[in-house]
Amino acid sequence: MDTKRSPLMAFKLVLTFFTTILTFYSATATELDTYIVHLNPANGQSFDHPEARETWYRSFLPPTATPASTEKHPTVVFAYHNVLTGFAAKMSAEQAKAMETMEGFISARPQRVYSTQTTHTPNFLGLHQNLGFWGGSNYGKGIIIGILDTGTTPGHPSFNDEGVLPPPSKWKGKCEVAGCNNKLIGLRNLTGVSEERFDEDGHGTHTSSTAAGSFVDYANVFGNAEGTAAGMAPLAHVAMYKVCSLEDCEESAILAGMDAAVEDGVDVLSLSLGGESLPFYQDGIAVGAFTAIQKGIFVACSAGNSGPFNSSLSNEAPWILTVGASTMDRKISAAVSLGNNDSLDGESLFQPKDFPKTLLPLVYPGSNGVQNTTWCAEGSLDDIDVKGKAVLCDRGGDVARIVKGQTVKDAGGVAMILANEATEGSSTIADAHVLPASHISYKDGVAIKAYINSTTSPLATLIFRGTVIGVESAPEVTSFSSRGPNLASPGILKPDIIGPGVSVLAAWPVSIENNTQMSTTFNMMSGTSMSCPHLAGIAALLKAAHPGWSPAAIKSAIMTTADQVSLNGRPIEDERKLPADIFAVGSGHVNPSKANDPGLVFDIQPDDYIPYLCGLGYTSQQVGIIATKTVSCSETIPEGQLNYPSYVITIARGQNKTYTRTVTNVGEAKSTYTISVTNVHLPPGIILEIRSPALKFTAVNQKITYDLTFVRDSKVEMNVRYAEGSMAWAYGKYLVQTPFSFVFV
Ligand SMILES: *[C@@H]1O[C@H](CO)[C@@H](O)[C@H](O)[C@H]1NC(C)=O
Ligand SMILES: *[C@@H]1O[C@H](CO)[C@@H](O)[C@H](O)[C@H]1NC(C)=O
Ligand SMILES: *[C@@H]1O[C@H](CO)[C@@H](O)[C@H](O)[C@H]1NC(C)=O
Ligand SMILES: *[C@@H]1O[C@H](CO)[C@@H](O)[C@H](O)[C@H]1NC(C)=O
Ligand SMILES: *[C@@H]1O[C@H](CO)[C@@H](O)[C@H](O)[C@H]1NC(C)=O
Ligand SMILES: *[C@@H]1O[C@H](CO)[C@@H](O)[C@H](O)[C@H]1NC(C)=O
Ligand SMILES: *[C@@H]1O[C@H](CO)[C@@H](O)[C@H](O)[C@H]1NC(C)=O
Repeated sequence: MDTKRSPLMAFKLVLTFFTTILTFYSATATELDTYIVHLNPANGQSFDHPEARETWYRSFLPPTATPASTEKHPTVVFAYHNVLTGFAAKMSAEQAKAMETMEGFISARPQRVYSTQTTHTPNFLGLHQNLGFWGGSNYGKGIIIGILDTGTTPGHPSFNDEGVLPPPSKWKGKCEVAGCNNKLIGLRNLTGVSEERFDEDGHGTHTSSTAAGSFVDYANVFGNAEGTAAGMAPLAHVAMYKVCSLEDCEESAILAGMDAAVEDGVDVLSLSLGGESLPFYQDGIAVGAFTAIQKGIFVACSAGNSGPFNSSLSNEAPWILTVGASTMDRKISAAVSLGNNDSLDGESLFQPKDFPKTLLPLVYPGSNGVQNTTWCAEGSLDDIDVKGKAVLCDRGGDVARIVKGQTVKDAGGVAMILANEATEGSSTIADAHVLPASHISYKDGVAIKAYINSTTSPLATLIFRGTVIGVESAPEVTSFSSRGPNLASPGILKPDIIGPGVSVLAAWPVSIENNTQMSTTFNMMSGTSMSCPHLAGIAALLKAAHPGWSPAAIKSAIMTTADQVSLNGRPIEDERKLPADIFAVGSGHVNPSKANDPGLVFDIQPDDYIPYLCGLGYTSQQVGIIATKTVSCSETIPEGQLNYPSYVITIARGQNKTYTRTVTNVGEAKSTYTISVTNVHLPPGIILEIRSPALKFTAVNQKITYDLTFVRDSKVEMNVRYAEGSMAWAYGKYLVQTPFSFVFV
């Protein structure tokens, strides 16, 4: 969620996390942390009732402390039944250690703390009412999307259940708070924190309505972006698992939410949450998601808001769809007009109609050289005269963009110009600022600073132009979208896909115009948190249209049909206005209608991941934690041999590397897919050999296996470490694209 928490929040959370570890080692006997405890039942041990399992879990806790001891007795916070064998308990490091010698114990570690990462979108993605794929997929009818988030807002018009069927009979979930209907079929609270509303934050209301909100006419914020709001799958059901409080999302609660969702019978899970990279057996989301896909549940997760820095991804496991964030063709335009008659284009959601066009004195408080002042951090403008002025602030510094505006307003400023720092380049956002504002690019910020330097009386004003549709450079990868390479599994390309995540209009619990509770309230948010539920909703549409597709098949359909170019026909660009690399876009920008008819899919069965995980060097026990069963790592495969719809090819000079793939025909029964020179793109010095240049199918669901051999020419000098390419199988209207990421060693 970029609006309230800047991308640097991730850094703060890393610190929080390390603090937890430090506490672990320096804890006094009475300090209790929440631990995730993994257990392994003895051979043949099984439990007739959930209660029997819980009794067995409790047997691992030490007996009640002696009266002389200062130790508090450990308490079980959650007992898990699906996503892992084990429980979460509040206990001390000593108490956790005491369990180590007990039979059936695998591991205990302090839980991680994750962060959440924040209407027109359907049309931009080619979804139109009563037309094409939306109609063909029945708008996701009958599909249940489980969302793990901060809660949601029952009663909001986006959750009206007009035309939504009762939940299917397999649904076993429940509503712990009032307000359920056929749209919002489940509401569960797994946090221990008391809040006034079921979604005090608003994040979960936004993400859940993005995935599956019903049609709401005249949705807008401050009159901007007005139109009919709808989620991606407007006839799907929503089940909300509140696992985050205003403060954070605890791993023990996330696991409990996934445990419940699997039990309840959801079809799709959407998690706009994440932390930094970890081995998968230590990553609660990866562990929980594996059980989900074993049950045929599709899992979408946000890629993280720590871009544009490389290897900044969350949620890197191959069984998860990892979603980066891109812009839409809509802008809420707010131009900066300078005293030298220059005009620079920017964005803001808050656009007062009566803002005067007369030029105001313009000031850059940061010219005093104080770092916090460049960012307009809270308190940093106290001794600076900004009264009645337009104030230039730099983005960043772990200060939320809206907070900067509040600081300017509190100091008496009348307008804010928010300029990107260099790394954010041209990526701007339409926020609900608290004062007249314009968010501009880095380049334009430099131009304004030069103008300020050039004159003794710099002047500026803002010209509000409202909603502009048709930005031809869209989609672009936005600066905050986290980037690969994948650290946890370097042989798997991540992110998988990008989707809309900048200035997304969706439901909000209160009116942001005056912060009162109203019936029709919307807000614009930005983050990979916003792009993830778009993909979860699209997965629900695909699942409704193709009930037999596995999670991996749906993933493959989304990835192999993704768009490579923006509306203007040029390669998708990033915040630098340069072609975005493969570590920013993955397979490309989602194209839902094409994903509905991909021709071929690269399918993966849950057990196929086991030799892959063993191949990562994990022990049988560590793989068992992920698979929730006893695993013996007798067979291993390299990461590149997983039947993934993209490739990471690590190759030395003179070396050759062979990759096997199996495609399943989900298109026309009689079809022949071929490979041609125009559909293969390779960096200089790389040759691709395919021994089966044609794939001839005679039946639907027929599978064909083929090999690709990449040969790196020993004579060609490579002065880069990374390069990229792609290939596509073609047949009629079908183009089955797979990207290549080359790593030269
Ligand atoms: C969630 O549950 C906790 C613990 O039972 C409670 O304190 C809190 O008020 C609940 N939150 C909401 C929004 O219902
Ligand atoms: C990642 O960043 C480092 C330092 O900025 C740079 O040297 C390296 O080439 C980058 N890697 C990729 C894959 O872009
Ligand atoms: C800005 O434009 C106005 C109107 O066209 C003109 O009168 C004024 O001289 C221009 N100012 C500068 C600094 O060019
Ligand atoms: C900068 O501002 C932040 C609040 O945004 C504050 O926590 C920090 O102490 C400030 N740093 C300095 C050096 O004043
Ligand atoms: C403006 O002037 C300041 C102080 O002389 C200098 O540090 C800064 O680089 C200048 N900025 C631009 C954009 O010219
Ligand atoms: C809040 O705003 C809405 C519409 O923008 C208006 O109808 C309502 O009266 C406002 N409430 C207050 C307390 O200002
Ligand atoms: C690949 O390498 C192997 C062993 O180094 C060699 O036998 C084989 O001929 C090579 N294949 C190609 C296509 O270069």
